[in-house]
This record gives sequence, structure tokens and C-alpha cells, in this order.
Amino acid sequence: MAGSGTAHLTGDDALLTARHLVKTFHAKGGRRVQALSDVSLELRRGETLGVVGESGSGKSTLARALMALPAPDSGSVTFAGQEVFAARGAALRALRFRMQMVFQDPMSSLNPAHSILDVVEMPLLVAGRGDAKQRRAAALKTLRSVGLDGELIGQRRSYELSGGQCQRVSIARALMLGPDLLVCDEPVSALDVSVQAQVLNLLEDAKAEHGLTMLFISHDLGVVKGISDRVMVMYLGKVCEIAPADALYAQPRHPYSATLLASVPSLTPTRRAARPALARGETPSPLAVPSGCRFRTRCPRATDRCVQEEPQIAAAGGGPGHFVACHHPLQTPAEAGVATAS
Ligand SMILES: Nc1ncnc2c1ncn2[C@@H]1O[C@H](COP(=O)(O)OP(=O)(O)OP(=O)(O)O)[C@@H](O)[C@H]1O
Ligand code: SF4
Ligand SMILES: [Mg+2]
Repeated sequence: MAGSGTAHLTGDDALLTARHLVKTFHAKGGRRVQALSDVSLELRRGETLGVVGESGSGKSTLARALMALPAPDSGSVTFAGQEVFAARGAALRALRFRMQMVFQDPMSSLNPAHSILDVVEMPLLVAGRGDAKQRRAAALKTLRSVGLDGELIGQRRSYELSGGQCQRVSIARALMLGPDLLVCDEPVSALDVSVQAQVLNLLEDAKAEHGLTMLFISHDLGVVKGISDRVMVMYLGKVCEIAPADALYAQPRHPYSATLLASVPSLTPTRRAARPALARGETPSPLAVPSGCRFRTRCPRATDRCVQEEPQIAAAGGGPGHFVACHHPLQTPAEAGVATAS
């Protein structure tokens, strides 16, 4: 995998379009990590796009880049027709109000110096909306909508709440300004499995109620499955595959997607047509990425071409909206290790 290109951008009702994002970090000894390497994507109004990939694949860097927190080294993001990286001052602030984030670690994303009510009211204060009474009423209402009683817990600090309660507070805070886009970076990874389901349901309810578009990041294809309309798979700063969720789970085209799928027990069919050809070995160091396809050192289908030539994102065939960056994509469910009904 590890491909570039924009064949998957259709422009159909896109709320946000990111093109050719590149972000490099400087590591010790003058070495460089390219966390995003020519990543393009679009978010269609009202959809949830799931983004999956192993640790270090660039998911969080992508989330922050979309919101210019900070802007990447190059590339562009258009949000509701506006160039995000060209916006400055009040215009950038206004854009950011419409794009809110929920982070992985709910506890540390809430300032323990402030009460829960103050935390939830803060976005309104920063945006200069309403008076104190109106802000308080809005905070209580939004807390109620995420299943929390603000009268009861409003004066507590974040360390006095459970992880699930903290994540509800984070979601309430993100909803306060009535955003169009919610970027959720591993919002349930730090939570117990039972609480994960509650928070996922809550996000779905909030999305429906507020007409949100959502980018939902996880390292777990199992978590992404229920909540996503489309899913994008990343590896070492590149896009591997992007497809409607049903299509990706029914038949992944990229060998890396098939490997991720096979590693989720709840998604692994008890009856298999064949064992998929799984990736082997460790992810290479981001300081020394392989030539050609970045996945080639682990890929059971790699050929000389994969060493020489970086695959470009192209239609995968089999159904609309399914794109893959691979010279030798998987052609059948059996090859991908997915059992079919018989
Ligand atoms: N501030 C930074 N300085 C140096 N390197 C960084 C920085 N932030 C991220 N990186 C590197 O960029 C790459 C992508 O990191 P990123 O956090 O985006 O990955 P991720 O997919 O979100 O991983 P995880 O699943 O562990 O959260 C990694 O190799 C990481 O070490
Ligand atoms: S077959 Fe080649 S291009 Fe496709 S994922 Fe494997 S190494 Fe990459
Ligand atoms: Mg991350």
C-alpha cells in the first residue's frame, strides 16, 4: 500500500476536501519522520468516515492537520468552500468553531483546574456568545443531552469523574458551538468495552441530532465498523484503501486491510474459504521507509514492481466508491480470507 493520488476524490457534496497533505517532523540527529505523505481525502456532508491504521500510521497527525492544529508543511484543506490554511485571525477562529475535536484521553483533555460546567461553557465564552446565564443554561442542556446531570456533577473537577463521564463531557464541550464537523481521535480507546458501546451510541445520537459530519479515528476495524459509512485505511503516512464500510468488510482489496480485518476476532468468520495472505514482520521504522510501496517489506504479494514503483490510488472495481493503492490487489473474498455465504 502506501499510495498517493486523488482518484478517490469525487467532489460529491464534500464538506471538507484535503489534498496532498504532507507533514514532516524532525527527529533527533537531524533525521526526519514523514507522518503524512501526500494524503488526500474528502468528507461528504452527513457521513462518518472511519480512519484506521496501526500506531504511527499518521492518524492523529491527519486529524490535527485538517484543523490547522498546526497546518501541515504542504497541501490544502477546503472546508465549506473556504481554504483553511489561508484563513487568519477571526476567520480561522470562526472556521475552527465549526470543526471540533474529541480526543483519545478524556481525562487529560479536560483542564482539572476548572469545574465541569466551566469546561463545557468555555467554548461559548471564547466565541463571545451569550451572557453568563445563557451560557450556564446551554451547558446544562448539552450535558443533559449526553446523559449527564450538570446540577449534580457540574461543580466537580475532571479527576472526580469516571473515564466514560469525562468522555461525555468532552463530547458536550465539542457540541457547544453547534459544529458542522466532529473529528474524533480514538474517542473510545481508553474506555472499558461496556462504556465504549455507550459512548459510540452517544456519538451516533449526537450526529443525528445535530446533523454532524464525522471523522472517526481508531486503530481497531471492529470499533469503526458499526459507526462508519466509509472507511479509510492508512499505513506509514499513506492511504491504502478507501471504500464504503460494507464493501471493505465484505472484501478488502489491500493486503494490509485484509491483515487488519483478520486481526479482529469479532470480525473473523468461523468458517473461512481460505486463510488470507497475512502481513509478516514489524512495521518499518518511520525514519527509514521502504522504497516503492511502503508496505512491501511485510506484504506476501510483493513483487519487484512494488520495490520500484509507488502504487497510486485507483478504482478497485467490484463496486462504486471502492479505491485501493496496490499493484496487485486482492481479487476475491477467498483471497482476502473473508467467508462468503453458501
Ligand atoms: N510532535 C512530533 N514529533 C516527532 N514525531 C512525531 C510527532 N508527532 C507524531 N510524530 C511521529 O509521526 C508519526 C505519526 O504519528 P501519529 O501520532 O500521527 O500516529 P497515529 O496513527 O495517531 O498513532 P497512534 O495510533 O499511536 O495514536 C509517528 O512516527 C510519530 O512518532
Ligand atoms: S502487492 Fe505490492 S503494492 Fe500491493 S500492498 Fe503488496 S507490496 Fe504494496
Ligand atoms: Mg494517534
